[in-house]
Amino acid sequence: MTAPRITVNGTEAPISPAAPHTTVLDFLRERGLTGTKEGCAEGECGACAVLVARPGTNEPTDWVAVNACLLPAAALDGQEVVTSEGLATAGPAGAPGALHPVQEEMAVRGGSQCGYCTPGFVCSMAAEYYRPDRCAHTDTEPAEDGTGTGTEDGPRHGADPEHGPNGFDLHALSGNLCRCTGYRPIRDAAFAVGAPTADDPLAQRRAQSPPAPVATEYVRDGRAFLRRSTLGETLRLLRERPDAVVVAGSTDWGVEVNIRSRRADCVVAVDRLSELRELGFGPGAVEIGAALTLTEIERRLDGRVPLLAELFPQFASRLIRNGATLGGNLGTGSPIGDSPPVLLALEASVVLADADGERQVPLAEYFTGYRQSVRRPGELIRAVRVPLPLSPVVAFHKIAKRRFDDISSVAVAFALDVEDGIVRKARIGLGGVAATPLRALATEEALEGRPWTAETAGAAARVLRAEGTPMNDQRASAAYRSAMLGQSLLKLYAQTTEAVTS
Ligand code: FES
Ligand code: FES
Repeated sequence: MTAPRITVNGTEAPISPAAPHTTVLDFLRERGLTGTKEGCAEGECGACAVLVARPGTNEPTDWVAVNACLLPAAALDGQEVVTSEGLATAGPAGAPGALHPVQEEMAVRGGSQCGYCTPGFVCSMAAEYYRPDRCAHTDTEPAEDGTGTGTEDGPRHGADPEHGPNGFDLHALSGNLCRCTGYRPIRDAAFAVGAPTADDPLAQRRAQSPPAPVATEYVRDGRAFLRRSTLGETLRLLRERPDAVVVAGSTDWGVEVNIRSRRADCVVAVDRLSELRELGFGPGAVEIGAALTLTEIERRLDGRVPLLAELFPQFASRLIRNGATLGGNLGTGSPIGDSPPVLLALEASVVLADADGERQVPLAEYFTGYRQSVRRPGELIRAVRVPLPLSPVVAFHKIAKRRFDDISSVAVAFALDVEDGIVRKARIGLGGVAATPLRALATEEALEGRPWTAETAGAAARVLRAEGTPMNDQRASAAYRSAMLGQSLLKLYAQTTEAVTS
């Protein structure tokens, strides 16, 4: 086992003497790479975004933007990172100091004022710039003012305000906040970038394999960051160290470290275990590896589980989804995680593994209390199984103060079978209305076997308002939460009636 090191902007750098909990952000800044900024230190502003080389969906390697403030540097042992400084010299011009094409567009379109957020924006923007399946729209429909698809002032944004004519998906920037420039010039810059040139080194890098995961044993001052090569080795380690904190994307643990100053004697990384990174459709279920990131699941499923496809764009931000996993979201047991309501409506089960074997637990029986579950010390979530066939009438309603990059006050997921106008089956998952995510069993009963009519929806909505034990807190009042539950079902009825009866 070699000494842990990270390749930063093409140069290897030892992780030592950083502490095992030291974040990638602090590691980079300590090395003088101060373009990477700390804004919030909890994954909400994107000032710390950097690029990492990860296994790709359509090419061997994808450049993926992540929050450097949340990830321990030790988690990137053997991996490659590019910062805003590295982008500046990695572009096709190749000359020291040359701006990367995304930096160039940000500069000429006025996308930066104080500049604090800018390095993070350009890293998120660069990840989208290098996304292999990003392609320009050929749509030449004139804009509403009749001036065509582009002007000297910048490109027109086409029919879809969230995608540029260059195929740029604005969701790539959903985890980046700017306090002084305003977003229009930033959007203009994003929608103006072209395609990477053939001699662009980062574009060329995509055709090579990503860095292989390496086993890591990084111990300093009595604290350890450990990564094993296989699931079996990891489970044996967890049996020896049931006190260990298990991390994948570290999007939850990183907040604990930064904001609550928590430290663990032993952190075990599972995000590169191949046994936790498979996704496959079997005859009776789709099995999703617990350590696949939400972005990877979103891209690999490509809409084949429609309720999950509704969830992903509403789950935090692209930066978070590039690290967060279903295993992590279920492992923390948070009552306001966004995936549990959806997975409850899908009647998913979790596959729990320990050194002695595996067991499958329906998610409806998994949560036992506030941040508590049936998962035993030493047990790991290996996969999530979603039974097939899927119910056709689905919706995920997240009620939050912001549309993206926010925590839900209430989350409701529906999965209904409606045949011949009758609700044959109803599954409803709720978040934010009790100490645990839960199924709305009384509402399901109020729907099943009844005609899918406004009367049924209205009566069931009254039942739904009484589900759970919502509380007052800084995000919402109990009364508001109850009201939103009922409204959610009425909204589903309004949204789906036409589709069901046509
Ligand atoms: Fe705000 Fe990392 S510093 S997301
Ligand atoms: Fe000042 Fe974005 S340019 S915060």
